[in-house]
Amino acid sequence: MHPRWQGQCRDCGEWNSLAEEQVVKSSRKSKATKIEKPQKLSEVSLEKFSGFKSGIGEFDRVLGGTLLPGSSVLLAGEPGIGKSTLILQAAGQYGSNNLNVLYISGEESAAQVKVRADRLKVSGENISIANLTDLHAITAILEEGGYHLVIVDSIQTIGNRQFDSPPGTVGQIRESAGRLIELAKKNDFALFLIGHVTKEGIVAGPKLLEHMVDAVLYFEGDNQHFYRLLRPVKNRFGSIFELGVFEMTPLGLIPVDNPSNFFLSGYNEQERSGSVVTASCEGNRPILIEIQALVSPATYGTPQRVAGGIDSKRLSLLLAILEKRGGVPMGNNDVFVSIAGGLKLTEPSIDLAVLTAIVSSLRDIPISPKMVISGEVGLSGEVRPIGMADRRVSESAKLGFEKIILPKQAVDSMKSKKIELIGVESLEKTLELIFW
Ligand SMILES: Nc1ncnc2c1ncn2[C@@H]1O[C@H](COP(=O)(O)OP(=O)(O)O)[C@@H](O)[C@H]1O
Ligand SMILES: [Mg+2]
Repeated sequence: MHPRWQGQCRDCGEWNSLAEEQVVKSSRKSKATKIEKPQKLSEVSLEKFSGFKSGIGEFDRVLGGTLLPGSSVLLAGEPGIGKSTLILQAAGQYGSNNLNVLYISGEESAAQVKVRADRLKVSGENISIANLTDLHAITAILEEGGYHLVIVDSIQTIGNRQFDSPPGTVGQIRESAGRLIELAKKNDFALFLIGHVTKEGIVAGPKLLEHMVDAVLYFEGDNQHFYRLLRPVKNRFGSIFELGVFEMTPLGLIPVDNPSNFFLSGYNEQERSGSVVTASCEGNRPILIEIQALVSPATYGTPQRVAGGIDSKRLSLLLAILEKRGGVPMGNNDVFVSIAGGLKLTEPSIDLAVLTAIVSSLRDIPISPKMVISGEVGLSGEVRPIGMADRRVSESAKLGFEKIILPKQAVDSMKSKKIELIGVESLEKTLELIFW
């Protein structure tokens, strides 16, 4: 604790990371707490413990199949990305499954939410709406019970009036979220907290909330493209290796059941240099996607390296490996790499595709449009094994690709009649195979 204003944190040395917080006596009622006797684990009743399903496959799957009563979920994302849209559509579905939903809107009036609901064709049966920001008013309603699901949009607008600091500050968020999460457990409703994250990165709110809730979902995408990704970054009750894909339309978010078809829809099967299709497993599902590279002689000063959708440090590293281990001098060239459709990929299995796209552009030699390339490249130029190779193979075959280049280890233990499997051990061998 720092009793007065200070620019630097005494503990971690970070500048401007301190936020003012009022010390207020806890607003919780100070009735003597009822002490519950511990019970035998084997005797704990699971009667109330069946989960809620919305029926929107891409949404339920990311939540781990079902949503448990008493659990709390943070849905975080940049303003305007579509959080309110997604949660209202989900609320509509939960409602039509006879679940009582309470939508607490701190940002928009009931009428504004209704206009959105009409546009999204959400009938709103079983959804109650309240335009509230005062924590006490909200907890009073929740104490009465009667709701299976409660949505708070957004947690940054809710506050305890006894605090001097405005809603959205660290102390307010902690207090409001803490009270709501506690009530969810006590009264057995599932809680969705909507949290804004800004482009600059981590806002104290959502980061702080990550530790308090049972699951954290990030909703992301960009303004130039219409797809949206729902990614779990924490889930106490399910896998975090899931990915929900949606398309934003005027009628709301439409689940994309087959992301490869969606992301490859602009892929043109004419031979072009610098274009390679890779099978990336973002989550547990393979997505086929086109990687594009453009290499041209640098005309002014230091060559540029521009990475869109992949980490720029990773690109520099890959270029160094290409020079040193692949024997391809890159020094005086500008290199631009981008993922078609604007998707961001984090999985290292795209390494080999990125490098072959770069060499393809440099030499102006196209790569067969019927080929998929997946493999991680190590510092000594070795092609390292990747997970879920079988899923990548079957997805590629399903979409009509004829050949797939994979790490040798993966190919050794696999057979496929539908697609030709080519195993490679090193970057050098891969380049020889494709370009020489
Ligand atoms: N009338 C409309 N027609 C089509 N799309 C719309 C319309 N209104 C809003 N949208 C889409 O919804 C997005 C805003 O979604 P919203 O759920 O309010 O975001 P958030 O709650 O994350 O701030 C807009 O960026 C736009 O893509
Ligand atoms: Mg909103």
